[in-house]
Amino acid sequence: MSASTPVRPTLPVDILARKGSAPLVCLTAYTTPVARLVDPHCDVVLVGDSLGMVLHGLPSTLGVTMEMMIMHGQAVMRGITKAMPVIDMPFGSYEESPSQAFRNASRLMAETGAPSVKLEGGVHMQETIAFLTARGVPVMAHIGLTPQSVNTLGGYKVVGRADEAARVMADAEAVQAAGAFSVVLEKTPDGLSRRITQTLTIPTIGIGAGVGCDGQILVIDDMLGLFTDFRPKFVKRYANLGETASDAIADYAAEVRTRAFPGPEHTFADEVPAKASTKGGKQ
Ligand code: KIV
Repeated sequence: MSASTPVRPTLPVDILARKGSAPLVCLTAYTTPVARLVDPHCDVVLVGDSLGMVLHGLPSTLGVTMEMMIMHGQAVMRGITKAMPVIDMPFGSYEESPSQAFRNASRLMAETGAPSVKLEGGVHMQETIAFLTARGVPVMAHIGLTPQSVNTLGGYKVVGRADEAARVMADAEAVQAAGAFSVVLEKTPDGLSRRITQTLTIPTIGIGAGVGCDGQILVIDDMLGLFTDFRPKFVKRYANLGETASDAIADYAAEVRTRAFPGPEHTFADEVPAKASTKGGKQ
């Protein structure tokens, strides 16, 4: 690629074409500065409804609204030039009927500029996914543990052991048949995730689904150590930014109390110094 070639954003078809090649790197993002940080490293950036828990302090993802997804989706879109953005459809915005799903998916895409949406569900969402994809909405599916169904699943448990495996495989085949361009497998056991990955022709993106998937995704606040209320087994912490921030805030508080901050270098003189440089801000 020459220096003058514009960077073309990644599209759902590009993600589909990555089946079986180098692992897809995916992370969530909810704000412009974080989107800018993850964009150069990621193939997919998901504006996940996990934002309800990690940013808004909700007890689950069930209280997330279309307005929240649109606001965070717009923020993330301002920070992305290369990776493929996906916006989660929040609970209650698509389950009622395919036309409800189309109305809200098209709103998410139109108001954020994102080229695709993600929704939870397998066989029972097959008709809806087919309806959306036939009408220009690329869909990433999400099966296994589907957090929006936590109340019917009875908790955030592993999904797909023993007798449940055939049902999860059927979900995977159903979303592929409906036209999904990829599928998130959440908290499915390793062997089942591998069998699904081998069976499907669309990429599988694992979260707690083992290393055999076509790609991996984590919630950014989990992997950076910013969300510390609980840590699922599948989360690896690559940094402890929560601790770093807490230490910095404690230092600031101590310096304010002892009048060590602000120092002369943060303070404006009454008179403009004779040879003042304007570099770094007005004096
Ligand atoms: O909402 C989210 O962040 C997600 C990922 C965990 C896949 O759905």
